[in-house]
Amino acid sequence: MRYQRSNFCFFYFDNARVFDPRTVRADGTATWEIRRGAFAVAVIAQKVVPLELDVLTSLHALARNTWYETATFDEDTLEILSPSLLEQLARDGVLLCDLEAAPFEELRRRHRTLEEEQWHPYSALYYFMTQWRRALPKDTPHDREVDEPRLLVERHGPPPAALHRRPDRLAFHPLSLPEAASPLLEGLLQRRSSRIFDASVTLSRRRLESLLYYVWGCQGRLQLSADVELLQKTSASGGALHPIEVYPLVCNVEGLEPGFYHYDVGRHGLEQLNVMTTAEARRLAVELTVGQPYFHDAQVVFVMTARFFRNFWKYHRIDKALSVVLMDAAFLGQTFYLVAAELGLGALFTAAVNALTVEQYLAIDGVQEGPLAVCACGARHPEADAVEPPFPSFRPGDDA
Ligand SMILES: Cc1cc2nc3c(=O)[nH]c(=O)nc-3n(C[C@H](O)[C@H](O)[C@H](O)COP(=O)(O)O)c2cc1C
Repeated sequence: MRYQRSNFCFFYFDNARVFDPRTVRADGTATWEIRRGAFAVAVIAQKVVPLELDVLTSLHALARNTWYETATFDEDTLEILSPSLLEQLARDGVLLCDLEAAPFEELRRRHRTLEEEQWHPYSALYYFMTQWRRALPKDTPHDREVDEPRLLVERHGPPPAALHRRPDRLAFHPLSLPEAASPLLEGLLQRRSSRIFDASVTLSRRRLESLLYYVWGCQGRLQLSADVELLQKTSASGGALHPIEVYPLVCNVEGLEPGFYHYDVGRHGLEQLNVMTTAEARRLAVELTVGQPYFHDAQVVFVMTARFFRNFWKYHRIDKALSVVLMDAAFLGQTFYLVAAELGLGALFTAAVNALTVEQYLAIDGVQEGPLAVCACGARHPEADAVEPPFPSFRPGDDA
């Protein structure tokens, strides 16, 4: 059998909280101690794997991108990297193994895709290790704290001031306030997040068409060469490559069955991917957003994914490329808020995405194409303003 050290694997030291099973008491509590440990971060398997130090040293001896026959290992190495440990390390994505069986084949495929599609190792480390997979509200860090500012202040002290001033300024020059003298500028002032939608309202097809066209639609195509085409949309995109795809999850739209669709930008149409009941679509909307109840009553929930290689093809193996892709999604998010406001719809954006659920429902592999963000829109509930009143208005200088 042959093994290779994955070069999408990182090693680090940390303090781990461990307990001695012999200290477990009748009530289930145990004595924990902090032990220093070595860990492998196996990006292809999205796992953090504890390692013994001698294993770490043996792995260090393996050159990357080189297949090793276990038969060629000397006795000392085999004593540490035993056949069963090697297989476990391959299951965990620390090593690649040439076995034609699950999960080794899939891990090799993911590894090959990362290599061929020009992922920078740091980008892969960040993207794959910060994804929430199968996350439930209880699993999300700080959830209770976030909803309870008092707890946050108790634990961490007050946050930095909302409005920042430079103590080292040379002088201060007051500016006069501009008038919002155009529909676009007026529209900017209408943007806000909404969390209480009216589930009983059906979104008209016209409004969905407008949203898709003005946010994710294409208004210009530039053929640079026989193979290379750039696009123009209402949002900017690094290299005009537009790697972001959008999948509307229809919950309640005139003339469309509930379920997932893919927006076909070239033909300005919807490719239906599956059919579900309204109740199923609504449940899925909450699951996709890690249990956030606000998404339940939205009329449409839009899942944004990236076809990474559309960007990495140009910015290949550049450490900044992933942040460009993330910013592309953020630009679309702002355009979405503005178009929704213009159409009189409530809108909400989130990066809290259950990646595994997205991948399963959209039949994407998460490596060639992976989830980034979700936004939703719907008619605001008649009582929404009473529950979530707009921010009190502010004119700069009022409290100066
Ligand atoms: C990157 C990003 C992530 C967000 N994630 C969430 C979220 O998970 N849940 C939520 O209710 N709102 C989320 N929001 C919306 C913000 O909470 C909202 O923008 C903020 O409260 C300010 O309100 P406004 O958008 O009405 O100005 C997110 C916004 C951004 C830009």
